[in-house]
Amino acid sequence: MADILLKNVCKKFDNGRSVVDDFNLNIADKEFIVFVGPSGCGKSTTLRMIAGLEDISEGELWIDGQLCNYVEARERGMSMVFQNYALYPNMTVYGNLAFALKIRKYPKQEVDKRVHEVARSLEIEHLLKRRPSDLSGGQKQRVAIGSAIIRKPKAFLMDEPLSNLDAKLRTQMRVEFAKLHKALGTTTIYVTHDQTEAMTLGTRIVVMKDGKVQQADTPERIYRYPANRFVAEFIGSPPMNILECCVGQENGQTVLLLDEEYDSRFSGKRRIYLKGTLAKCLFHRYMGKKVLMGIRPEDVCEYEEAVSGGFADSCAGFTKRVKLREVLGSEVVLYLEDKEKNFVARLKPENKNQAGDFVELFFNPEKIQVFDKDTEENVLL
Ligand SMILES: Nc1ncnc2c1ncn2[C@@H]1O[C@H](COP(=O)(O)OP(=O)(O)OP(=O)(O)O)[C@@H](O)[C@H]1O
Ligand SMILES: [Mg+2]
Repeated sequence: MADILLKNVCKKFDNGRSVVDDFNLNIADKEFIVFVGPSGCGKSTTLRMIAGLEDISEGELWIDGQLCNYVEARERGMSMVFQNYALYPNMTVYGNLAFALKIRKYPKQEVDKRVHEVARSLEIEHLLKRRPSDLSGGQKQRVAIGSAIIRKPKAFLMDEPLSNLDAKLRTQMRVEFAKLHKALGTTTIYVTHDQTEAMTLGTRIVVMKDGKVQQADTPERIYRYPANRFVAEFIGSPPMNILECCVGQENGQTVLLLDEEYDSRFSGKRRIYLKGTLAKCLFHRYMGKKVLMGIRPEDVCEYEEAVSGGFADSCAGFTKRVKLREVLGSEVVLYLEDKEKNFVARLKPENKNQAGDFVELFFNPEKIQVFDKDTEENVLL
């Protein structure tokens, strides 16, 4: 069990380019931290610095209250699981599982007991005599995980451990990771490209871009209150819609005015009344200015739902032409014409709009996020 603290950690390779820049994170014991971000943003490098496989250029790494920058990898008590399994091909499954204990000179009986315990918990006991070449991808990954947990490490460091598996197996293994973490409670840092893995496994998600942490928070908060436009568009699929609009006033209330250019063919007011902290913040800092409004596709709805949700009056209809309609059974996804890119609405399955139709949509004002047009930071965070 371990808590891990990264303080102003930086990584520069020989070419002098900063690959990880001022990384700060305080990981509590038993946490399941997920790193996400575009390819090349520094996820693996950060993980490798924690594991001790890569030097830390600047900053401090503390594990369980001990400064570990110069502690050897094998002294750090971490177990790493990679995408490509890293099994010993000429050893049996038993040999692979037992290896880490044997080199640490554990008594034979203890080794045998633990191998069977771990194999049972991962349902690979029947495979103990086989070699890695005779295993499926999923089975290999179980063995790799087994050899990571058998040492009872202080923490697991996992770099895209499921990315070589097919979709079905991935889902299955994801559930098993969740169970395993619940049972063992071992601090885990997990790198993935998969949104579902990030949202379902993480106690906290760390979103990175260009070597910098953009936001580190619970999955719910990252989804609901993204710190900036990048996070808003990176997490969630289809991504959050972003619309430029202007902050104004109507009947003494702060409103967001949707850009006229979008649908000048239509009369009617395209404005949204705001309430609470957001209204106050916009009134004081952005009156008359342009901002970016963010709304998730599932927070867009048709008139009837806006009425039953009680916000039909505070949000005037917003009319757009349907480009593409996708029927997914439990919902209908409409892709609508917009200035630069798609505007996406996830609607109730009753929706009947076809491509080419105009559709009037409403936004739940309570679900709206607003970003500064220049910095792209969330105005409330
Ligand atoms: N040994 C190295 N020398 C120089 N540059 C490196 C080295 N290792 C990694 N990099 C660079 O550091 C950056 C971050 O790499 P890293 O592997 O951490 O990214 P990542 O977020 O894990 O990406 P991916 O999602 O593709 O695995 C990349 O631009 C990469 O080219
Ligand atoms: Mg990587």
